[in-house]
Amino acid sequence: MAHSSAGSVEQYNYDIVKKFAIASLIWGIAGMFTGVWLASELAWPFLNFDIAQITFGRLRPVHTSGVIFGFGGNALFATSFYVVQRTCQARLAGSRNAHYFMFYGWNGALIIAGIGYMMGITQAREYAEPEWYVDIMITLVWLVYFWVFVTTITRRNQPHIYVANWFYMAFILATAILHIFNNLAVPVSFTGAKSYSLFAGAQDAMTQWWYGHNAVGFFLTAAFLGMMYYFVPKQAGRPVYSYRLSIVHFWALGFMYMWVGTHHLHWTAIPDWTSSLAAVFSILLLMPSWGGMINGIMTLSGAWDKLRTDPIMMFMITALSFYGMSTFEGPMMALKEVNALSHYTDWTVGHVHSGALGWVALITIGSFYHMIPKLWNTELYSMRLVKLHFFVATLGIILYITAMWSSGIGQGMMLREFDEYGNLANTFISTVTFMHAPLVARAIGGMFFVSGMLLMAFNIYMTIRNAKREPAVGSVAQTVNA
Ligand code: HEM
Ligand code: HEM
Repeated sequence: MAHSSAGSVEQYNYDIVKKFAIASLIWGIAGMFTGVWLASELAWPFLNFDIAQITFGRLRPVHTSGVIFGFGGNALFATSFYVVQRTCQARLAGSRNAHYFMFYGWNGALIIAGIGYMMGITQAREYAEPEWYVDIMITLVWLVYFWVFVTTITRRNQPHIYVANWFYMAFILATAILHIFNNLAVPVSFTGAKSYSLFAGAQDAMTQWWYGHNAVGFFLTAAFLGMMYYFVPKQAGRPVYSYRLSIVHFWALGFMYMWVGTHHLHWTAIPDWTSSLAAVFSILLLMPSWGGMINGIMTLSGAWDKLRTDPIMMFMITALSFYGMSTFEGPMMALKEVNALSHYTDWTVGHVHSGALGWVALITIGSFYHMIPKLWNTELYSMRLVKLHFFVATLGIILYITAMWSSGIGQGMMLREFDEYGNLANTFISTVTFMHAPLVARAIGGMFFVSGMLLMAFNIYMTIRNAKREPAVGSVAQTVNA
């Protein structure tokens, strides 16, 4: 047993959880602000001011890495360490040095990668842009993460391993495998930071999208489902609707996700049967995904009033609804005929953000509003601000995705329209002109979403400040309450 700064007996290590949670918020605001900037550049291209470092191509991976690995990654470190300790009723394994190594290693790697992108250093693999030296840093951090997480589970004071930990474990393991194989490369220069992939041609494309889709499946989905399976029941004050269903959900997702990567490569030079296989497994994925969504939403049965009275619950249930929506849209887009229209258009970007903002960001925000006051052993500064945040964020997402549907489907239809002589009816530039209005609407939607994040940052700042001023009297800071 160690002693907390307040001097009370501390059963769990919350110090590292707090660090990752705050880092996640900072990355969230910075990464989403970059998203708004990118969206504005697409609507008003002069905004790159002819500065190479902030042109769309260089800033785009700063956004994607910032939000996925900065915001999402730090949130997963934070919540997985919180959840594993509480559900196992065991203190986090590993020394302070090991924890700090993960924290500074992960965030340091992201900063080095981000600066590199702006300087034009990239290995041009989507969601795996960093060059080899950053990849090695990430691998080391991940090995420590794996060790700390598994060792904590082995030290549990509970016979059972709660299902949330299974999802986190699958995410840690799958991410390690994906990261290592996708990044197999031969460095050719240290100072020029250049390497060549071990794969070439169609194999290279298939490896990239095996990685790319499983990054969606295990990083952006399975891990956040781990979050959902802990925080939704906690916030609802009820056990998960069907524990049996959660286990089926786990194994079905784990099995099916691995096969669908090539739906990103329909109508390209890959063998056609791999495309069909991916489409079939994508359709099958609908079932476990919806099973999980229903399991999460039904956890509220008997406490439906919380949907009216509890703004944190509103975040969580809306997140689950977007999870359902994007996992319906995804399988449809995986059908070759639909993909012929949607691919290369903003429809894909709309789908991405209904998952990324609607599911990933909302479930994280809801979980943070639940977890952060507990970490500091206090109450949230303002529930009214949480409610305001909810409406601003939801409005932002709706603007974003409806704008992308109009832009994407319109763009796709225009590009496949023929005149009576069989020539293309529209020039490329006329599609760009058509897209201007929706691109402006998307930028405004993004601004709404970031404003919500700023409200959250203020609310959390005040919560922590108040907690530091008035530490809760006589409480054992972190009691067993999992
Ligand atoms: C304020 C919020 C956000 C805004 C305004 C925004 C904006 C953008 C823009 C303009 C792009 C480039 C689209 C293109 O290439 O045409 C983009 C791409 C992307 N963003 Fe965001 N974004 C936001 C939040 C997020 C979050 C929270 C995540 C993930 C958790 C995310 C994940 C992605 C991904 C994965 C892509 C690449 C999409 C693709 O390749 O189709 N974004 N975003
Ligand atoms: C059953 C579930 C899902 C299926 C079958 C699915 C399927 C698809 C398909 C077919 C595409 C378009 C590929 C293309 O034309 O290039 C796509 C793109 C994408 N989806 Fe999903 N999706 C699912 C759920 C999700 C969720 C929940 C998220 C986010 C959290 C997500 C994130 C993405 C991203 C980031 C891309 C863009 C990749 C890129 O081109 O850069 N998907 N998905």
